[in-house]
Amino acid sequence: MQFYTFAYTSLLMMTDAELAALRQTYAQRTLLETDVLPDAVRQFRQWLDEAIAAQLPEPSALTLATVDAATGQPSQRVVLLKGLPDDAGFLFYTNYDSRKGHELASQPRAALNFFWPGLERQVRVEGLIEKAPADMSTTYFQSRPRGSQVGAWASPQSQVIGSRQELEAREHETEAEFADQNPLPRPRIGAATCCARSGWSSGRAAPAACMTAWFMSARRAVGVGESAGWLLSV
Ligand SMILES: Cc1cc2nc3c(=O)[nH]c(=O)nc-3n(C[C@H](O)[C@H](O)[C@H](O)COP(=O)(O)O)c2cc1C
Repeated sequence: MQFYTFAYTSLLMMTDAELAALRQTYAQRTLLETDVLPDAVRQFRQWLDEAIAAQLPEPSALTLATVDAATGQPSQRVVLLKGLPDDAGFLFYTNYDSRKGHELASQPRAALNFFWPGLERQVRVEGLIEKAPADMSTTYFQSRPRGSQVGAWASPQSQVIGSRQELEAREHETEAEFADQNPLPRPRIGAATCCARSGWSSGRAAPAACMTAWFMSARRAVGVGESAGWLLSV
């Protein structure tokens, strides 16, 4: 609570002009067309490996944007990347009964954003969402520590809980309910993958040019006799 008060006060002390003047010069490296693999997922693997090697905080964290089909209202939140299955999609796990779960059920499209400021890079991914097979979701859920399995049953995502005591009581009830089961059965939590288009930006195209290099890969439509792949556009 103290943190929020402090952050709010400091923001009030900063004028809009000062706020607008906050900027970082991104000049670590250039990004050329020849630096980017046309296969978006393979390219992503390289950048993720570099983010991990650079020991950036939460290198696998991404912002996931979904849309409420009824109102058109977008929403976003952070989730963790859990795999790149078959080099074909970006895998994450969520509760199907959460807000994002409902939104993805009604409108199975999403946008993902990875931002690694330490490397001056962002990756944008857009595409259709598919649910991963149920057995894959179960294996993942049951690989999590028991405390996190209990937590998933005790605190349904996106729902308001009256108090911390209520949450703790639910945890005790869940522990008692599943006392003789290890691992716990999987609640409606599962995996989803997304991919169709990816964009890459990094640093500056040229030291004098105030612009960010930006490349886009899109999944190529598969015609007769063709294999699936990516097209890189500049
Ligand atoms: C670092 C971090 C990682 C997170 N990872 C996940 C995740 O992998 N899956 C998930 O469903 N929620 C994850 N969350 C929680 C979500 O950001 C979000 O608060 C929650 O899923 C409810 O979102 P919704 O109400 O929009 O559905 C994470 C939060 C943080 C801060």
